[in-house]
Amino acid sequence: MTMSWKSWPSLFHVCLLLCATPAFSQKFDLEPMNSTVLQGTDAHFKTTVHKPWDIMIWSVKDNLVLTFSKMNGIIPPPPEGFHAHLCPNTTDCVEFIIYNVHRNQSGPVTCAVQGDFGEVTAELHVQVNGTVSIMREYTTVEQDQQVEFHCVTTGWLPSPTVSWRRNGLVVNSNNYNTTSVEDGELFNSTSVLKFQAVSNTTVECQAKVSSLLHTQASSVFLVVVPRPPDWTVLIAVVTSFGGFALLVLLIIGIIFCCKRRKEKQTNYQDELRRVRTQSQLSVVTAQTDGKVNRGYLPDIQTGGTPSDHTNSGYLNNKKQNGNSNQAGNICNKAFNTLEDADLRKHRHATIV
Ligand SMILES: *[C@@H]1O[C@H](CO)[C@@H](O)[C@H](O)[C@H]1NC(C)=O
Ligand SMILES: *[C@@H]1O[C@H](CO)[C@@H](O)[C@H](O)[C@H]1NC(C)=O
Ligand SMILES: *[C@@H]1O[C@H](CO)[C@@H](O)[C@H](O)[C@H]1NC(C)=O
Repeated sequence: MTMSWKSWPSLFHVCLLLCATPAFSQKFDLEPMNSTVLQGTDAHFKTTVHKPWDIMIWSVKDNLVLTFSKMNGIIPPPPEGFHAHLCPNTTDCVEFIIYNVHRNQSGPVTCAVQGDFGEVTAELHVQVNGTVSIMREYTTVEQDQQVEFHCVTTGWLPSPTVSWRRNGLVVNSNNYNTTSVEDGELFNSTSVLKFQAVSNTTVECQAKVSSLLHTQASSVFLVVVPRPPDWTVLIAVVTSFGGFALLVLLIIGIIFCCKRRKEKQTNYQDELRRVRTQSQLSVVTAQTDGKVNRGYLPDIQTGGTPSDHTNSGYLNNKKQNGNSNQAGNICNKAFNTLEDADLRKHRHATIV
């Protein structure tokens, strides 16, 4: 024997190393141990066996779904939606696929290798992406108006992370509140975003679950129009201007009317004067002829003056005119007084 006693401790160490190594308790690897996939997609698991093996058995949620032989492949044919095959270029590795996963397949996925290998269990999480939509409460608002957008997500699993963007910029989470409710196995949520409208804005609501590569989004375009002027001020301004204009018009109207009446009056007086001059002339002619005009009654003898008759007649006339034209009332009074004084003056002039 050449083996010395000295070699024993090293053998002992090797044994200790082998016994202590994790590979000893787990003779194959399963990857991934935690798989999160979107409903409707495929879930892939891979087992790598480090030692010679023959038969492998896959179970989903404790139901045996597939048996795989290294020599013969899948035996017998598996239920629809399950598949397994050897990895390319090696017999040490098997890929197990669940096609078109459904959310009720979430749970343990177990691989057992026959022989002294034991089993390894991974976890499958199936997520569901539902719908996202912003309720179009308004798309046109006035500037500085407080706006509120409601984003509704329906039929998600788990409840999605909802975020908002305005013109492509992420909105601070202080500006919105999201509440989620369970609806059967799925979740619905409502997120409320509030802000003050400043200018045209694209508002986007995004929902995401981890297995979703891209966020799912809904967006609306908010048109912000300038605030209309304060109508009360405008109305006040218009009314006061209108009132002022009306007053000016009234004054102009009165002045115009008065002018017209004065002109008329002057014409009338001219006519009156002409007639009187003629009658005076006829009186003079009659007297020079020496004939007594019996039809003539001198003004003085009757005790009244022709001007009285004329004046009263004129006044009556004026009164009627005044009644038919209310606006002229003021001028009438003013002119009647004027006219009385005038006529008396003229009377004096003609009689003397
Ligand atoms: C597995 O993934 C799910 C969802 O992604 C996560 O909630 C869970 O913590 C993970 N578990 C482990 C053990 O990593
Ligand atoms: C969110 O909810 C909290 C508590 O109910 C409230 O104080 C806050 O104003 C809300 N924020 C928004 C943006 O609605
Ligand atoms: C806002 O959008 C409307 C409609 O597209 C457009 O007519 C308007 O000019 C925009 N306003 C501004 C300030 O860009």
